Amino acid sequence: MFWFQRPKWYENAVIYQIYPWSFQDSNGDGIGDLEGIISRLDYFRGSPHSLGVDALWISPVYPSPMKDFGYDVTDYCDIDPRFGTLEIFDKLVAEAHKRGLKIIMDLVVNHTSREHPWFQEARMSKTNPKRDWYVWKDPLPGGLPPNNWLAVSGGSAWTPDPSTGQCYLHHFLPHQPDLNWRNDEVRKEFKKIIDFWLKRGVDGFRVDAVAHTVEDKRFRDDPVNTHFVKGVDLPYDEYLHMYDENQPEVIGVINLICESSKKYRDIFIVTESYVDLTQLIKIYDGCTYRNHTPFNFNLFELFKKPWSAEIYRAFINAFDKLVGPKRVPTYVLGNHDHRRVLTRFGETRTRLLALMLLTLRGTVFVYYGEEIGMKNVEIPKHKMKDGFATLIENPSILRDPERTPMQWSDDLNAGFSEVEPWLPVSEDYAKVNVKTERANPESMFYLYKMLLYYRNASEALRYGEYVPRNAKSSDVFFYSRKTSKEEWFVMLNFSNEIVNEELVVEGRKLQIACSTYMNTPLSSKENTVTLRPYEGVLFTSS
Ligand code: BGC
Repeated sequence: MFWFQRPKWYENAVIYQIYPWSFQDSNGDGIGDLEGIISRLDYFRGSPHSLGVDALWISPVYPSPMKDFGYDVTDYCDIDPRFGTLEIFDKLVAEAHKRGLKIIMDLVVNHTSREHPWFQEARMSKTNPKRDWYVWKDPLPGGLPPNNWLAVSGGSAWTPDPSTGQCYLHHFLPHQPDLNWRNDEVRKEFKKIIDFWLKRGVDGFRVDAVAHTVEDKRFRDDPVNTHFVKGVDLPYDEYLHMYDENQPEVIGVINLICESSKKYRDIFIVTESYVDLTQLIKIYDGCTYRNHTPFNFNLFELFKKPWSAEIYRAFINAFDKLVGPKRVPTYVLGNHDHRRVLTRFGETRTRLLALMLLTLRGTVFVYYGEEIGMKNVEIPKHKMKDGFATLIENPSILRDPERTPMQWSDDLNAGFSEVEPWLPVSEDYAKVNVKTERANPESMFYLYKMLLYYRNASEALRYGEYVPRNAKSSDVFFYSRKTSKEEWFVMLNFSNEIVNEELVVEGRKLQIACSTYMNTPLSSKENTVTLRPYEGVLFTSS
């Protein structure tokens, strides 16, 4: 944050991700749509019952053959009829804005669908004017792929195209040919696309797979990953992605996108790169625009490590410090590509992580259903839809289980649709749903609502400095959020045992604002508070 300037809406905002296929069906076809989203806008903002988030990021709604559920686009300037029309999209933006809610589009820049007219032209001949819009190479002798690059979705990143005998590059499915971002016309075209949506009033873009947009000019082989364990690691991890991902030129793509949105007010750009802290800071440093922040997916890496306060404390302290006061960190517990957080950790620990997420300095993202404690749903093989699933026999990459219909009520199909939904509804929907949880002050929904209430009401919780604190127990991750006027404290007990902590900090007595155990009172005696297993507590100070 720039302390001397008024914060922008996106700085330290809470952004809610909608996966449109699964949010709300309005026309009885078993698939969510834009009218469905419009009918649910009060859920987010504008009524006393609203959650109180700042923006919606909507996963792709462009026309698409849906081999990758919208991440394979055939027209960047229209809406897929399954979801609605441009007019309905305009209505969505207008209705959201009426409520003070921002709309963020998903911008798929790395690749198109194989059915996009650009690719259809490009593949016609080696001399077609669109040929260089994609990345082509001759196969090696014997028809082998041009190099050892792998697709994230499995197999080689090259597919031979019979029309010319050359191979095209695809970092994801063969249905998703990679665009060539070294080509000026591609860059110009995306400037137009960005303009098209900004004119329609959208407030920002989540830029998909930006890390893959530029590859090594010499197409060198990636080095072997000597730590790779077959059958345990994802097949994609067999090589270190030194030449096919996160090339220095990617910053140029990010800057171009930010530059293109400069003439519009307060447009937020968040880019997708799975990188470690060092590389993340390079992205922050390389981008010259204040309205950009890279996603930080490092919590997903922490999730794979042993559950311990020390691991979270060390990462968050380091990250917050490296990002510094002039920029904004981001945090994510889940999205449409990862196992839901509740499935990883169970309810009690997920509550602790929710309290952490919503009290950290940074722009944070909530994946639909996280706020009611939705979990992954086991999908029988014959009902699987994810295009990645058909290519890889590796269950950990299948993404259908975290994409199931939103659970609104205990009505038929959880209130998502009147007909059988495209993916099965979770069996727990009679209990885990918005309607039931709204009536239960102990619920996950209530916890989110309360934390969002505090975050919106307090300058310190939203914009304040992050201050690492020392707890008595090493199992407790302790920090505060501070402005010159107020300070809030957070204690997170990572152990599954009772822990006693001091209630007096620098002569100030802490007062409990909210606990992840909700209404079950916390016991505090004089100057000591007793934290229960995996309990997270938010305190004010007098
Ligand atoms: C999206 C995925 C998608 C991939 C290819 C990702 O980063 O989040 O869902 O499959 O890009 O577009």
